[in-house]
Amino acid sequence: MAAEMRQVDDVIRRRLQSEVVLINQIAHYIVSAGGKRIRPRLVLLFASAFGFTGDERFELAATVEFIHTATLLHDDVVDESSLRRGRQTANALFGNAASVLVGDFLYSRAFQMMVGVERMRVLEVLADATNVIAEGEVLQLMNMHDADLSVDDYLRVIRYKTAKLFEASAQLGAVLANADRALETACADYGRALGTAFQLIDDLLDYEGDTQALGKNVGDDLREGKPTLPLLIAMERGTPAERQTIRHAIEHGESERLGEIISIVRHTGALEVTRDAARSEADKARKAICVLPATPAREALLELCVRSVERSS
Ligand code: IPE
Ligand code: IPE
Ligand code: MG
Ligand code: MG
Repeated sequence: MAAEMRQVDDVIRRRLQSEVVLINQIAHYIVSAGGKRIRPRLVLLFASAFGFTGDERFELAATVEFIHTATLLHDDVVDESSLRRGRQTANALFGNAASVLVGDFLYSRAFQMMVGVERMRVLEVLADATNVIAEGEVLQLMNMHDADLSVDDYLRVIRYKTAKLFEASAQLGAVLANADRALETACADYGRALGTAFQLIDDLLDYEGDTQALGKNVGDDLREGKPTLPLLIAMERGTPAERQTIRHAIEHGESERLGEIISIVRHTGALEVTRDAARSEADKARKAICVLPATPAREALLELCVRSVERSS
């Protein structure tokens, strides 16, 4: 896909431009750091799975990457994170206000781009997705420091804040190709399940991962008191004393005892439970696209399910 992804990069670079110097500076700073570009890849692969070859696919691939990038700028302010894509975060370098405002620029630029495609269904899918993402981020804020959060409520947050954009990205390929609604739904189901698996692994890597490989600081979730699945499961399975240690960490945030908490999360099997949950979502994603014609694009989408669970970055 290298050639097609370069086309997406061209659109990204062209659409990033603004006459406002600070916007160019910050937007280029975060975009040039790269990232895995999974969401634009989904747009292209689904378009290809339906045989759609119009240039709108590049425009929409760039659009979902802009929406994603806007959420990252905002997320790093909210999470007070200092490392992203192997660099200092924009908030660390340019401040919170500039990050939030440039995030708004990227969001609204994304809307200009999707309008340019002149398809009502595209607008509908992306407007719904951005709205649900915002709801997810606010729900997560409300759940902060809540050690009694249920697994269902945790899953709702990750469906909203992360899986929804995967869902929309997958759906757009079908929308562009005018696929029938049943197929569009199959694509959406794939995206939702893959996105859920992806965030489960992201939450796991915050305990098990490597800062260098991830390009972001491990332990950020614990420092913030974010009740993610590894902690919820470790509380369920740990001794009363271990449960108390984790409860305290969620309620007050904790970075000094990261080592101790990682070891509890490890020996209670909470990481395996989290990985198994991700695997089962990835299986759902694979099954969802059985209805698509067998093409190299579908193969790549199946492969992506495996990689999203096995990844270390
Ligand atoms: C990070 O997404 C935010 C989550 C939804 C976990 P990615 O892991 O796709 O970030 P980049 O774009 O590759 O940096
Ligand atoms: C993903 O959650 C947030 C978004 C969907 C923007 P995280 O807060 O876990 O993402 P990272 O770990 O900072 O990339
Ligand atoms: Mg974050
Ligand atoms: Mg994370």
